[in-house]
Amino acid sequence: MFRRRYRVYSARMPKLLDLYCKAGGASMGYHEAGFEVVGVDIKRQKRYPFEFIQADALDVLRDTAFLRSFDAIAASPPCQTHSRTKHLRDAQGKTTAKVDLIPQTRAALIASGLPYVIENVPGAPLLDPVVMCGSSFGLMVRRHRLFESNIPLSGLPCAHKAQGRPVGVYGSMRDEIPQGGKTAESIDQARAAMGIDWMIWGELVEAIPPAYTRHLGQQLIRSLEDEDRTRDARSSHDQSGGSQRVLGGVGASR
Ligand SMILES: C[S@@+](CC[C@H](N)C(=O)[O-])C[C@H]1O[C@@H](n2cnc3c(N)ncnc32)[C@H](O)[C@@H]1O
Repeated sequence: MFRRRYRVYSARMPKLLDLYCKAGGASMGYHEAGFEVVGVDIKRQKRYPFEFIQADALDVLRDTAFLRSFDAIAASPPCQTHSRTKHLRDAQGKTTAKVDLIPQTRAALIASGLPYVIENVPGAPLLDPVVMCGSSFGLMVRRHRLFESNIPLSGLPCAHKAQGRPVGVYGSMRDEIPQGGKTAESIDQARAAMGIDWMIWGELVEAIPPAYTRHLGQQLIRSLEDEDRTRDARSSHDQSGGSQRVLGGVGASR
């Protein structure tokens, strides 16, 4: 209660915890939407652009006192078990982690009581997700990604035709691709296609274009503001009407 009032009246930036953040593609979009962002990853991320904690996300999710210092949580749990590229990797004899942290992560996010967004690849078992695509933002990647939330979110329609042939930012640079052509020619081309200027190739291939989470983060902030307004209206109503009702009730009982 006090925390939310503090946010409204001091105009402090709302705080978002980004779990499984890697080098911060999703984090950057939430930051651009207006959040102060703290990232968590099990591996050190030396190019992560915001405050960073190296830890297991599931341990962080158990720290309820720590979670209470945030207004919202985003999570990109490992997705290799669901990725459509898994079959390609299997065929190429490349190893694929078999972890699926989505169910545990979702359960802990629900238990936190905070607004949350879980991101994953097409094929992942997310609940009623919205789909985002680079073509909707004038980017040269398609990179469809699913986003589940406990607040209503809206996506945007794809614009594949207007986009034309996308730039592939996956696998290796200048790799032959099944549809013909090659993946990105250079790191600069890949960065421009993703709307990210600080990552190396190995980070770009796993990143979310910040445009996606900027769009979703703006909706998240509006939802937090609506929640504040509703709470404030309810509390001023209770202070006036509520106390009258109590007095009336006391009088009536005499
Ligand atoms: C797909 S990447 C996230 C990409 C990021 N959302 C972005 O937009 O740039 C998934 C990350 O999860 C991290 N990870 C895997 N298991 C983890 C765990 N138990 N706790 C924290 N991070 C973990 C990996 O190290 C990897 O950096």
